[in-house]
Amino acid sequence: MGAEADISGSADGKASAGVEESGGILSEIINEIVSSPINIALVLAILFLVYKIVAGRRDNQEINLPPQPPPLPKLKKRDMLLDELRKYDGTQPDGRVLVAINGKIFDVTRGKRFYGPGGPYSPFAGHDASRALAFFQADLVKEEYDDLSDLDSRQMESVREWEEQFTDKYDFVGRLVKPGEEPTNYSDEEEGEQTEEVVAPTERSKDD
Ligand code: HEM
Repeated sequence: MGAEADISGSADGKASAGVEESGGILSEIINEIVSSPINIALVLAILFLVYKIVAGRRDNQEINLPPQPPPLPKLKKRDMLLDELRKYDGTQPDGRVLVAINGKIFDVTRGKRFYGPGGPYSPFAGHDASRALAFFQADLVKEEYDDLSDLDSRQMESVREWEEQFTDKYDFVGRLVKPGEEPTNYSDEEEGEQTEEVVAPTERSKDD
Protein backbone atom coordinates (compact mmCIF):
# COMPACT_ATOMS: atom_id res chain seq x y z
CA MET A 1 0.00 0.00 0.00
CA GLY A 2 2.70 2.34 1.02
CA ALA A 3 4.59 1.71 -2.24
CA GLU A 4 1.43 2.35 -4.27
CA ALA A 5 0.89 5.68 -2.49
CA ASP A 6 4.51 6.56 -3.23
CA ILE A 7 4.19 5.72 -6.93
CA SER A 8 0.97 7.71 -7.45
CA GLY A 9 2.41 10.54 -5.40
CA SER A 10 5.54 10.76 -7.56
CA ALA A 11 3.49 10.53 -10.83
CA ASP A 12 1.29 13.43 -9.69
CA GLY A 13 4.37 15.34 -8.80
CA LYS A 14 5.89 14.82 -12.30
CA ALA A 15 2.64 15.84 -14.02
CA SER A 16 2.30 19.02 -12.03
CA ALA A 17 5.98 19.78 -12.61
CA GLY A 18 5.37 19.37 -16.38
CA VAL A 19 2.42 21.77 -16.34
CA GLU A 20 4.43 24.22 -14.30
CA GLU A 21 7.35 23.87 -16.74
CA SER A 22 5.24 24.54 -19.87
CA GLY A 23 3.41 27.35 -18.09
CA GLY A 24 6.83 28.75 -17.23
CA ILE A 25 8.05 28.65 -20.84
CA LEU A 26 4.83 30.30 -22.06
CA SER A 27 5.04 33.09 -19.49
CA GLU A 28 8.74 33.51 -20.34
CA ILE A 29 7.84 33.95 -24.06
CA ILE A 30 5.04 36.39 -23.21
CA ASN A 31 7.37 38.32 -20.89
CA GLU A 32 10.02 38.38 -23.63
CA ILE A 33 7.49 39.75 -26.15
CA VAL A 34 5.92 42.44 -23.97
CA SER A 35 9.30 43.57 -22.63
CA SER A 36 10.29 45.00 -26.03
CA PRO A 37 8.18 47.33 -28.23
CA ILE A 38 9.90 45.88 -31.32
CA ASN A 39 8.72 42.39 -30.41
CA ILE A 40 5.17 43.67 -29.83
CA ALA A 41 5.25 45.37 -33.24
CA LEU A 42 6.54 42.18 -34.90
CA VAL A 43 3.81 40.06 -33.33
CA LEU A 44 1.15 42.57 -34.44
CA ALA A 45 2.61 42.61 -37.96
CA ILE A 46 2.52 38.79 -38.14
CA LEU A 47 -1.08 38.72 -36.89
CA PHE A 48 -2.02 41.37 -39.48
CA LEU A 49 -0.36 39.41 -42.32
CA VAL A 50 -2.07 36.18 -41.29
CA TYR A 51 -5.41 38.05 -41.21
CA LYS A 52 -4.78 39.51 -44.69
CA ILE A 53 -3.89 36.09 -46.15
CA VAL A 54 -6.98 34.43 -44.65
CA ALA A 55 -9.28 37.33 -45.65
CA GLY A 56 -7.73 37.40 -49.16
CA ARG A 57 -8.39 33.69 -49.62
CA ARG A 58 -11.99 34.15 -48.55
CA ASP A 59 -12.41 37.10 -51.00
CA ASN A 60 -10.91 35.07 -53.86
CA GLN A 61 -13.29 32.23 -53.15
CA GLU A 62 -16.17 34.70 -53.23
CA ILE A 63 -14.91 36.19 -56.53
CA ASN A 64 -14.71 32.71 -58.06
CA LEU A 65 -18.18 31.78 -56.91
CA PRO A 66 -20.43 33.45 -59.54
CA PRO A 67 -20.83 31.10 -62.52
CA GLN A 68 -19.07 32.10 -65.72
CA PRO A 69 -21.31 33.09 -68.65
CA PRO A 70 -21.90 30.05 -70.85
CA PRO A 71 -19.61 29.82 -73.88
CA LEU A 72 -21.09 31.05 -77.15
CA PRO A 73 -22.67 28.37 -79.33
CA LYS A 74 -20.34 26.98 -81.96
CA LEU A 75 -20.62 28.83 -85.26
CA LYS A 76 -22.04 26.91 -88.16
CA LYS A 77 -19.18 26.22 -90.54
CA ARG A 78 -18.99 28.62 -93.45
CA ASP A 79 -16.49 30.47 -95.58
CA MET A 80 -16.29 34.25 -95.38
CA LEU A 81 -15.05 37.21 -97.30
CA LEU A 82 -12.79 39.62 -95.40
CA ASP A 83 -15.71 42.09 -95.22
CA GLU A 84 -17.76 39.52 -93.28
CA LEU A 85 -14.85 38.46 -91.09
CA ARG A 86 -14.24 42.09 -90.06
CA LYS A 87 -17.53 42.12 -88.11
CA TYR A 88 -16.20 39.54 -85.66
CA ASP A 89 -13.72 41.81 -83.89
CA GLY A 90 -15.21 41.36 -80.42
CA THR A 91 -17.09 44.67 -80.41
CA GLN A 92 -20.47 43.12 -81.34
CA PRO A 93 -22.93 42.45 -78.46
CA ASP A 94 -22.05 38.73 -78.35
CA GLY A 95 -18.32 39.55 -78.23
CA ARG A 96 -17.36 36.81 -80.66
CA VAL A 97 -13.84 37.11 -82.11
CA LEU A 98 -12.65 35.42 -85.30
CA VAL A 99 -9.12 35.46 -86.72
CA ALA A 100 -7.88 34.11 -90.06
CA ILE A 101 -4.51 32.43 -90.54
CA ASN A 102 -3.26 31.01 -93.81
CA GLY A 103 -6.74 31.11 -95.34
CA LYS A 104 -8.45 29.45 -92.35
CA ILE A 105 -10.81 31.24 -89.99
CA PHE A 106 -10.73 30.32 -86.29
CA ASP A 107 -13.11 31.23 -83.48
CA VAL A 108 -10.70 32.70 -80.91
CA THR A 109 -13.40 33.99 -78.53
CA ARG A 110 -11.85 31.82 -75.78
CA GLY A 111 -8.67 33.85 -76.20
CA LYS A 112 -10.49 37.16 -75.91
CA ARG A 113 -7.93 38.51 -73.46
CA PHE A 114 -5.43 38.38 -76.35
CA TYR A 115 -7.62 39.38 -79.29
CA GLY A 116 -10.57 41.26 -77.78
CA PRO A 117 -10.78 45.07 -77.56
CA GLY A 118 -7.76 46.36 -75.64
CA GLY A 119 -5.92 43.03 -75.88
CA PRO A 120 -2.29 42.88 -77.10
CA TYR A 121 -3.29 41.19 -80.37
CA SER A 122 -6.56 43.08 -80.96
CA PRO A 123 -5.45 44.18 -84.48
CA PHE A 124 -5.88 40.51 -85.50
CA ALA A 125 -9.56 40.44 -84.48
CA GLY A 126 -11.77 40.14 -87.56
CA HIS A 127 -8.66 40.12 -89.77
CA ASP A 128 -6.12 37.88 -91.45
CA ALA A 129 -3.20 37.63 -88.99
CA SER A 130 -0.88 35.65 -91.33
CA ARG A 131 1.35 38.53 -92.38
CA ALA A 132 1.63 39.91 -88.83
CA LEU A 133 2.64 36.49 -87.52
CA ALA A 134 5.11 35.87 -90.36
CA PHE A 135 6.88 39.16 -89.64
CA PHE A 136 6.18 39.04 -85.88
CA GLN A 137 4.73 42.53 -86.01
CA ALA A 138 1.20 42.87 -84.63
CA ASP A 139 0.06 45.87 -86.71
CA LEU A 140 0.87 44.24 -90.08
CA VAL A 141 -2.72 43.39 -90.99
CA LYS A 142 -4.25 44.38 -94.29
CA GLU A 143 -7.70 45.83 -94.89
CA GLU A 144 -8.01 43.99 -98.21
CA TYR A 145 -7.54 40.33 -99.15
CA ASP A 146 -3.89 39.33 -98.70
CA ASP A 147 -2.64 36.52 -100.97
CA LEU A 148 0.72 36.38 -99.08
CA SER A 149 2.49 35.83 -102.43
CA ASP A 150 5.48 37.98 -101.43
CA LEU A 151 6.32 35.87 -98.35
CA ASP A 152 9.43 33.68 -98.61
CA SER A 153 9.48 29.98 -97.64
CA ARG A 154 10.74 30.65 -94.10
CA GLN A 155 7.94 33.15 -93.47
CA MET A 156 5.34 30.77 -94.92
CA GLU A 157 6.69 27.99 -92.70
CA SER A 158 6.16 30.26 -89.68
CA VAL A 159 2.59 30.98 -90.84
CA ARG A 160 1.92 27.24 -91.12
CA GLU A 161 3.26 26.64 -87.60
CA TRP A 162 0.93 29.32 -86.21
CA GLU A 163 -1.92 27.75 -88.18
CA GLU A 164 -1.18 24.42 -86.49
CA GLN A 165 -1.21 26.06 -83.05
CA PHE A 166 -4.57 27.65 -83.76
CA THR A 167 -5.95 24.38 -85.14
CA ASP A 168 -5.02 22.69 -81.85
CA LYS A 169 -6.45 25.43 -79.65
CA TYR A 170 -9.47 26.93 -81.43
CA ASP A 171 -12.51 25.88 -83.49
CA PHE A 172 -12.22 26.07 -87.26
CA VAL A 173 -15.04 28.17 -88.73
CA GLY A 174 -14.37 28.10 -92.46
CA ARG A 175 -12.04 29.44 -95.12
CA LEU A 176 -11.25 33.07 -95.85
CA VAL A 177 -12.23 33.40 -99.50
CA LYS A 178 -11.12 36.09 -101.90
CA PRO A 179 -13.77 38.12 -103.77
CA GLY A 180 -15.27 36.00 -106.54
CA GLU A 181 -14.13 32.69 -105.03
CA GLU A 182 -16.80 30.03 -104.54
CA PRO A 183 -17.49 29.25 -100.83
CA THR A 184 -17.40 25.62 -99.65
CA ASN A 185 -20.69 23.90 -98.93
CA TYR A 186 -20.32 22.47 -95.41
CA SER A 187 -23.99 21.55 -94.90
CA ASP A 188 -23.45 17.74 -95.05
CA GLU A 189 -20.67 17.77 -92.42
CA GLU A 190 -22.56 19.16 -89.47
CA GLU A 191 -25.84 17.34 -89.15
CA GLY A 192 -26.78 16.99 -85.49
CA GLU A 193 -24.14 19.44 -84.25
CA GLN A 194 -25.36 22.34 -82.11
CA THR A 195 -24.28 25.41 -84.03
CA GLU A 196 -25.31 29.01 -84.44
CA GLU A 197 -26.09 30.04 -87.96
CA VAL A 198 -25.01 33.55 -88.84
CA VAL A 199 -26.13 34.74 -92.22
CA ALA A 200 -24.22 37.77 -93.35
CA PRO A 201 -25.85 40.13 -95.87
CA THR A 202 -22.95 39.60 -98.26
CA GLU A 203 -23.20 35.79 -98.20
CA ARG A 204 -23.77 34.41 -101.64
CA SER A 205 -25.97 31.43 -102.28
CA LYS A 206 -24.98 28.63 -104.66
CA ASP A 207 -28.44 28.91 -106.20
CA ASP A 208 -27.84 32.54 -107.28
C1 HEM B 1 7.69 41.55 -76.30
C2 HEM B 1 6.97 40.85 -77.14
C3 HEM B 1 6.06 39.74 -76.78
C4 HEM B 1 5.85 39.10 -75.62
C5 HEM B 1 6.55 39.30 -74.28
C6 HEM B 1 4.80 38.12 -75.85
C7 HEM B 1 4.33 37.25 -74.90
C8 HEM B 1 3.41 36.28 -75.13
C9 HEM B 1 2.97 35.29 -74.16
C10 HEM B 1 3.48 35.18 -72.71
C11 HEM B 1 2.07 34.49 -74.76
C12 HEM B 1 1.37 33.27 -74.15
C13 HEM B 1 0.18 33.73 -73.38
C14 HEM B 1 -0.60 32.52 -72.83
O1 HEM B 1 -0.71 31.47 -73.50
O2 HEM B 1 -1.12 32.66 -71.71
C15 HEM B 1 1.90 34.97 -76.11
C16 HEM B 1 1.06 34.42 -77.02
C17 HEM B 1 0.92 34.87 -78.30
N1 HEM B 1 1.64 35.86 -78.90
FE1 HEM B 1 2.99 37.06 -78.01
N2 HEM B 1 4.39 38.21 -77.13
C18 HEM B 1 5.13 39.18 -77.75
C19 HEM B 1 5.05 39.60 -79.03
C20 HEM B 1 4.18 39.07 -79.96
C21 HEM B 1 4.08 39.52 -81.35
C22 HEM B 1 4.91 40.64 -81.99
C23 HEM B 1 3.11 38.76 -81.92
C24 HEM B 1 2.56 38.76 -83.33
C25 HEM B 1 2.84 39.59 -84.26
C26 HEM B 1 2.62 37.83 -80.92
C27 HEM B 1 1.63 36.92 -81.11
C28 HEM B 1 1.18 36.02 -80.18
C29 HEM B 1 0.10 35.08 -80.41
C30 HEM B 1 -0.71 34.91 -81.69
C31 HEM B 1 -0.06 34.33 -79.24
C32 HEM B 1 -1.02 33.17 -79.02
C33 HEM B 1 -2.22 33.62 -78.24
C34 HEM B 1 -3.21 32.46 -78.16
O3 HEM B 1 -2.91 31.47 -77.50
O4 HEM B 1 -4.28 32.58 -78.77
N3 HEM B 1 3.30 38.05 -79.75
N4 HEM B 1 2.72 36.04 -76.30
